[in-house]
Amino acid sequence: MSSHWRQALPSDLPDIAAIAARIHPELPERPEVFAEKMRLYPDGCRVLIADDTVVGYGIAHPWKLHLIPPLDDFLHGLPDDADCLYVHDVVVLPDFRGKQIAGAFLAMVAALPKSAGIGSLALVSVYGTQAMWERFGFRAAAPDAALRVKLATYGESATYMVCTLSA
Ligand SMILES: CC(C)(COP(=O)(O)OP(=O)(O)OC[C@H]1O[C@@H](n2cnc3c(N)ncnc32)[C@H](O)[C@@H]1OP(=O)(O)O)[C@@H](O)C(=O)NCCC(=O)NCCS
Repeated sequence: MSSHWRQALPSDLPDIAAIAARIHPELPERPEVFAEKMRLYPDGCRVLIADDTVVGYGIAHPWKLHLIPPLDDFLHGLPDDADCLYVHDVVVLPDFRGKQIAGAFLAMVAALPKSAGIGSLALVSVYGTQAMWERFGFRAAAPDAALRVKLATYGESATYMVCTLSA
C-alpha cells in the first residue's frame, strides 16, 4: 500500500503515542513530551499516512551537536545557537517497511530551511540500526564521558551518529 509523510497535527498524538508504545516498549515517552516537540518545531514532526491511517512517525528538531536531549522529558525550548537537527525518532510500522521510507523522512528534514549554523543531522542509533544510518551518510561519533552516560539510557547498542549536510 502506498504511504506518504505529512506534517503531524495535535490530533495525531494518540496514534503517535500508540505506535511509540508498541515499537519502543523499553524506551517509553509520555504523549505530552511528543506534544512539546510538535509545538516547538512543527516542521520536523511528521506522520506517515497509508489509507488515512497513521502508520509511522518521524520527529526532528534543532539541537546542539554531541548533546542528547533527555528521553521522556521536556526540551523547555530550542537552543538559539543550534548547530544540528537532531532526529529524535523515526518509526515505520512493520507492514509498511521495505521502501526506504525512513530515508525519505531524512531527506525531508535535510531540506528544511535552516538557521545559520545548522550543518548536520544527528541521532542515536538503537536496535542495531547503525549500518542502515551509515547508508544515509551518518557516521558514528566518538562520545565523550557525558555523552556516554546519556547513551547508556538508550540501551547497549546505542550509538551517537552525525551526518554532515552539504552546503
Ligand atoms: C528503522 C525503520 C524506520 C526503517 O524503515 P524503512 O525506511 O521502511 O526501512 P527499509 O525497510 O526500507 O530498510 C532500508 C534499508 O535498511 C536496512 N535496514 C532496515 N532496518 C535495519 C536494521 N535494523 N539494521 C540494519 N539494516 C537495516 C534494510 O535492510 C534496507 O536495506 P535494503 O535497501 O538493502 O533492502 C524501521 O525499520 C523501524 O521503524 N524500526 C523500528 C524503530 C527504529 O529502529 N527506529 C530507528 C531508531 S534509531
